[in-house]
Amino acid sequence: MSRKDSKRGIAARSVAESRVEMTHIVLPTDTNPHGNILGGTVMHLIDLCAAVVAHRHCRRKVVTASMDELDFLNPIRMGQIAILKGRINHVARSSMEIGVEVYSEEILTGDRRHCCTAFLTFVGIDDLGRPTEVPRLILKTAPERLRFSEAEERRRQRLKRRAKTRRTDG
Ligand SMILES: CC(C)(COP(=O)(O)OP(=O)(O)OC[C@H]1O[C@@H](n2cnc3c(N)ncnc32)[C@H](O)[C@@H]1OP(=O)(O)O)[C@@H](O)C(=O)NCCC(=O)NCCS
Repeated sequence: MSRKDSKRGIAARSVAESRVEMTHIVLPTDTNPHGNILGGTVMHLIDLCAAVVAHRHCRRKVVTASMDELDFLNPIRMGQIAILKGRINHVARSSMEIGVEVYSEEILTGDRRHCCTAFLTFVGIDDLGRPTEVPRLILKTAPERLRFSEAEERRRQRLKRRAKTRRTDG
């Protein structure tokens, strides 16, 4: 259940409250000439899945600030089901890290294979597009606490990379 966050005046939320599982049947329009789903299509689905998690957590407008590097470990074939599991790992002030795991599922056998895992940062914004505070995260389990501290390290690396990119802008 949501809990009032005395510092922010907004309700903190648990990880479970925003979890998402999304499915997508891979059709010919999703694939390359070899019958595998396009990488860009997988990224689009990941972005959508993570956006739903972010919206459920903060119940306000959000934008995608970043998606970390992505390694495609196994293809998803035409006719298979793509399964996306999204979960919030970390919350700072206005930003949230969402993890999305992608699997393929064979329709006839139910066999599942891990395709990739992505980490995205979403930022809560106000009506003028300015970053705004989002609810804090209630951590209930040891794996949730571990994911939170791992996400903190990724956030440090991301912000370093961002500062570097900004210096080379234009
Ligand atoms: C993301 C965005 C709102 C950040 O705005 P900003 O004025 O630069 O704000 P700040 O520097 O104060 O950053 C706000 C928060 O976002 C985080 N952030 C910003 N850019 C980030 C990035 N590239 N990766 C990870 N986190 C990022 C900051 O760490 C900060 O987090 P915190 O409030 O939790 O500490 C702004 O850059 C934007 O609107 N970008 C375009 C988003 C978009 O259109 N996405 C769709 C695809 S183009």
